[in-house]
Amino acid sequence: MSGGIVIAVDGPVAAGKGTLARRLALHLGFHYLDSGLLYRATASRLLADGGRADDEGAAEAVARALSREDLARSDLRSEAVGQAASRVAAMAGVRAALLAFQQRFAATLPGVVIDGRDIGTVVCPDARVKLFVTASPAERARRRQQELLGRGESADYAAILADLEERDLRDTTRPVAPLRPAEDAVTLDTTALDADGALQTALQIVESRLKAVPDTAI
Ligand code: C5P
Repeated sequence: MSGGIVIAVDGPVAAGKGTLARRLALHLGFHYLDSGLLYRATASRLLADGGRADDEGAAEAVARALSREDLARSDLRSEAVGQAASRVAAMAGVRAALLAFQQRFAATLPGVVIDGRDIGTVVCPDARVKLFVTASPAERARRRQQELLGRGESADYAAILADLEERDLRDTTRPVAPLRPAEDAVTLDTTALDADGALQTALQIVESRLKAVPDTAI
């Protein structure tokens, strides 16, 4: 496959992968895709059209017809849409509909950083660098709570932790493209790292992987 350098950043919800992936892309001059946004946009439009999050046919039709406007819907970061996103993301038809878009994006020069759940395993199995970003559930719930409070939203820690564990379970046990580290992924635990520490550690991993993994794409 010809294209630029692909850096896959996978991991569970609120592990810090979005912030890390965005900053990595900025630092390297690469393009950035938050693949979760595609599932959130599918869920948001499905619910707005009066559909149910368990209606596979309707969800797939929405995923196939996603527009640029859908990716800018105002409720994409809400808890309700996040929960519904994790439901539609378990549907094979929805994943197939969103796969081609992600793979086209992955070929963008000079390179891309894509964050998600299955980037290193399914979307870009040949990615030059694969990071699996994790943090303890307690730390991830604490960060999510801070984020919600920062947006002026209510944020009950116990409810956030329960929601996060429910989504982890659904993401790791679904039969299609379950969340798991690729065999050649490097795990980065951000529990004790702030955003700058995570970026520095990730840059060291990227540098050593680019040296170690030859570019066979040319
Ligand atoms: O990353 P984010 O929380 O925005 O993703 C929303 C949901 O979309 C996740 O809970 C997950 O179920 C799903 N997702 C996925 N594969 C991806 C990205 C997100 O299944 N590559």
